[in-house]
Amino acid sequence: MSGTNISSPLTLPCGAVLKNRFAKGAMTEGLADARNQATERHARLYGRWADGGSGMLLTGNVQVDGRYLERPGNVVIEGPQSNEQLSALAAFAKAGTRNNTHLWMQLSHAGRQTPAAVTSEPVAPSAIEVKMPGGQFGKPRALTVEEIKDIIERFAFAAGVAKDTGFTGVQVHAAHGYLISEFLNPLVNQRIDEWGGSLENRARLLMETVKAVRDKVGAEFPISVKLNSSDFQKGGFSHSDSIKVASWLDEAGLDLLEVSGGNYEQPVMMDTEGFEPVYEEKVRSSTRKREAYFLEYAADMAKAVKNTPLMVTGGFRTVEGMNEALESNDADVIGIARPLCVESDLPQQMMDGKVTEAKKWEKTFRLGPTRILGPNSPIDLFRGLNAWGAQGWYCLQLIRMGDGQDPDTGMSTFKALRRYMGNEQKAAKAMNAARAA
Ligand SMILES: Cc1cc2nc3c(=O)[nH]c(=O)nc-3n(C[C@H](O)[C@H](O)[C@H](O)COP(=O)(O)O)c2cc1C
Repeated sequence: MSGTNISSPLTLPCGAVLKNRFAKGAMTEGLADARNQATERHARLYGRWADGGSGMLLTGNVQVDGRYLERPGNVVIEGPQSNEQLSALAAFAKAGTRNNTHLWMQLSHAGRQTPAAVTSEPVAPSAIEVKMPGGQFGKPRALTVEEIKDIIERFAFAAGVAKDTGFTGVQVHAAHGYLISEFLNPLVNQRIDEWGGSLENRARLLMETVKAVRDKVGAEFPISVKLNSSDFQKGGFSHSDSIKVASWLDEAGLDLLEVSGGNYEQPVMMDTEGFEPVYEEKVRSSTRKREAYFLEYAADMAKAVKNTPLMVTGGFRTVEGMNEALESNDADVIGIARPLCVESDLPQQMMDGKVTEAKKWEKTFRLGPTRILGPNSPIDLFRGLNAWGAQGWYCLQLIRMGDGQDPDTGMSTFKALRRYMGNEQKAAKAMNAARAA
């Protein structure tokens, strides 16, 4: 028994100290302006979270290439930064580091998961499109080697801007089917050059990116990676691949490895229930019982790393479950995302003993037909719409907090779906108009 609990501080390998074991998981905010610059809405939202007790806050994914976004409202850091952007980022960092809170910028490239509203031709390791209905993503083209090298430099450049504007760490997003995760995944990476094939080659983009970021920010600045414990797809990035990559990252010198799983085709990062069929490694039943989806996978990864603390994100809702994970050393940091869209001070409430369990909002979302047919209805369309409605619901709560309002927990899934889609269309239109001007 380690005696570690949610209130224990943690010293990272680089020497930085997290004041407790809570980290807010990255959540895309959609709060950038039409030129993909940070705004005062980011500062308002992150100030609220920094007042809520978390030891560390991860930003939503900030993009290193404005052509390939995860959604139109992403912040982009590339090329010369305007004074407006630099002061908005500095205000964002100032608010998010209140109360001795760490604020780390998550850096990403959306790769083939760039929506069609952003580009009809995304990029990927190989020209293999996302297998999802509805034409939401265009067929990608394969990146050239020069482009891959440029992407590595872009990550390093954006990390430098994060550091210079007052963020206290960075995270490289290598999970959830975005570009770096696509390179790791043999189903998407079918390259025959040194960037594809063996695991060592598939991991080259990640490893070179981490090295370039470290060279840019120095030894004392926290660097994290978010990695899938597995893609949970037959023939995808497997759990044994993930354990090996974790050990390489550990040797390279990382400050925190965040463990997640899945991608758009297999979205287990949000829930391991209801997605049965195509796992190479079925989500283990004991993991389900232990509330955190990837804890058992993280335990395997913990054995492969010597120095790197592990953050585990996905499903944690009870103080008991969190303390158990910390005590057993299967996790060093507890990642929490969705509950903080509603209860921004949940970590403080939990540390004060006022709350022992977060509400599972995800259990409450049901569009009409799904309610009638049951949550595991075989009708994929409704399952898909339900998931979109839920995602929209959370995203709209973030926008409300960014606007200085309280979350609206009475919002129906249907209303959220409609509003969210309208919001995204409007943002895409404004962004494209600003780019054309
Ligand atoms: C609205 C929303 C936006 C998200 N955006 C991101 C993101 O930008 N980057 C990322 O790595 N994960 C993102 N995630 C996933 C979360 O970080 C987290 O892995 C997932 O929600 C599971 O944790 P939870 O059960 O505590 O919510 C997002 C999740 C939600 C609900």
